[in-house]
Amino acid sequence: MAESKTTNHFRTNLVTADMRSGIDEALKSLDPDAARPEHVMEAVDLALGFSGRTVLSDINVSLRRGSITALIGPTGSGKSTFLRTLNRMNDRVPGFQRTGDVTLEGSSLWASDVDLLALRRRVGMLFQRPNPFPMSIRDNVVAGVKAHRIAKGKQLDVVAEQRLSEVGLWDAVKDRLGDSPFRLSGGQQQLLCLARALAVGPEVLLLDEPTSSLDPITTESIEALLKTMAPALTLIVVTHNLGQARRVSHSTMFFYQGKLVEYGPTKQIFSNPQHADTERYVTGRMG
Ligand SMILES: Nc1ncnc2c1ncn2[C@@H]1O[C@H](COP(=O)(O)OP(=O)(O)OP(=O)(O)O)[C@@H](O)[C@H]1O
Ligand SMILES: [Mg+2]
Repeated sequence: MAESKTTNHFRTNLVTADMRSGIDEALKSLDPDAARPEHVMEAVDLALGFSGRTVLSDINVSLRRGSITALIGPTGSGKSTFLRTLNRMNDRVPGFQRTGDVTLEGSSLWASDVDLLALRRRVGMLFQRPNPFPMSIRDNVVAGVKAHRIAKGKQLDVVAEQRLSEVGLWDAVKDRLGDSPFRLSGGQQQLLCLARALAVGPEVLLLDEPTSSLDPITTESIEALLKTMAPALTLIVVTHNLGQARRVSHSTMFFYQGKLVEYGPTKQIFSNPQHADTERYVTGRMG
């Protein structure tokens, strides 16, 4: 501690701005991550609604890079609306309204040069119900990889094996890669969709109740996977399963009656919430 104080003192008082920028450049070249801001996404004065009815307002949050954030709150509290705004999935929904901004690495999601496909490669999504494409298991995994020209030809087979192995599905499907995904179990289909989402190398993955339709064993394996995926990836998970929020997330946001009531470390939200509504919800006394 004493050492870093001295360094700060030295840098603020004795080093000129030019020298400081030279030092910063040198530091960046040693460690590219040193230059990256701590927060990967930020919502600033965000308000969301449909057809003149406000769903959420006054959202000001920063999402720490490499963290897992759980979004909790009663049904209709705006969790999915908020989540889907983070990769502009609501933009085309009739009646959707937004004021305020969301940034990714400091740039607005709605800046004029933002390409939607590129944005959704960086901010991927896994839905509540598995949604495999009507194509083979293998082609599902590499669909995005092909579209974004990340790999081609034989490399695609390597990507498919790698990603299916990563989600623990390889052994179950390696002999039927050309088959339809619709004959897989619901849990296997969800793992396939996760493999597909990971294959394009997103920076952020949005998950909307990803295990709510799955059995406890598949749920456990997805939770374990999520934990291994951070810190390489920033994860934001909507869940009604408070145990899941406690088990997997570092931070929790509690939404209620049009507001983000509380956002903090998961441990604190569950053991020492600052608001009475949060306490009622996390102790199961709400509704
Ligand atoms: N496409 C839409 N058109 C109009 N209103 C919508 C639309 N989508 C959501 N809403 C409204 O916005 C509010 C928040 O919905 P949202 O789906 O975000 O809630 P949620 O917290 O995800 O709920 P749940 O836990 O049930 O999934 C609700 O009142 C809902 O009726
Ligand atoms: Mg929802």
